[in-house]
Amino acid sequence: MKKPFVAGNWKMNTDSHSSVALVKEIVSGCSNIAGHNVDVALFPPFVYLQAASKALSSSDISLGAQDIFYEQKGAFTGEISPAMLKDIGCSYCLCGHSERRHVIGEDDELVNNKVVAAINGGLLPILCVGELLEQRETSQTQEVISRQINAGLAGLNDQMISAVTIAYEPVWAIGTGHTATPQQAQEVHAMIRELVGRIYEKELAQQIRIQYGGSAKPANAAQLMAQPDIDGLLVGGASLKAEDFLAIICAAA
Ligand code: PGA
Repeated sequence: MKKPFVAGNWKMNTDSHSSVALVKEIVSGCSNIAGHNVDVALFPPFVYLQAASKALSSSDISLGAQDIFYEQKGAFTGEISPAMLKDIGCSYCLCGHSERRHVIGEDDELVNNKVVAAINGGLLPILCVGELLEQRETSQTQEVISRQINAGLAGLNDQMISAVTIAYEPVWAIGTGHTATPQQAQEVHAMIRELVGRIYEKELAQQIRIQYGGSAKPANAAQLMAQPDIDGLLVGGASLKAEDFLAIICAAA
């Protein structure tokens, strides 16, 4: 049984005061969760990472960045390297979140460069994949997900894949309140595991954690987590309220 993994993606929310307050509420709430049989990571905006890192110092909650750049240093105005993130206490980073793919315009090749750079820089990437509504409605889900998985993991050897978490986030479910049904999510998660199993040893495909994301909330967390191939949740909106995020962690634990 894999240890469940719940991550909170704060996106472009909070400020210098509320980010630290939210971290502290989550830290104190987590210390009351019996058994601690769950990995938890928080993804605040870049500018609040260092303060969040300090506030997390005595807890076993991990810190992650919402994005990275694939070069280690140099003339890349505005970008942030894996080494910088490591330096301030990050363990994880998101790669290819759908808002970066569809709002900012990141393509599969760029996402793959980021996944590789994250691992080489000692970070644990969460590779995000997911289809648009029109792609689901025209039966392209499988094609889109296999392209994103194959391209996103290109060049990763067995040792590197062990550092990766995959997040399935159907774009039509993100921030919309329309969660995928547990069956819809399970179907794609099983497909992702099979795809990984075609590239790597079966055992590695069994071990990789696949999170679901898209309007995950306290009311649906347990049902989603009950699916055999759902190993965790990547939570957006509901991670901004400590009470809701803690309820989701409890459901996963
Ligand atoms: P949501 O976002 O939970 O607000 O739908 C999830 C995500 O984008 O990671």
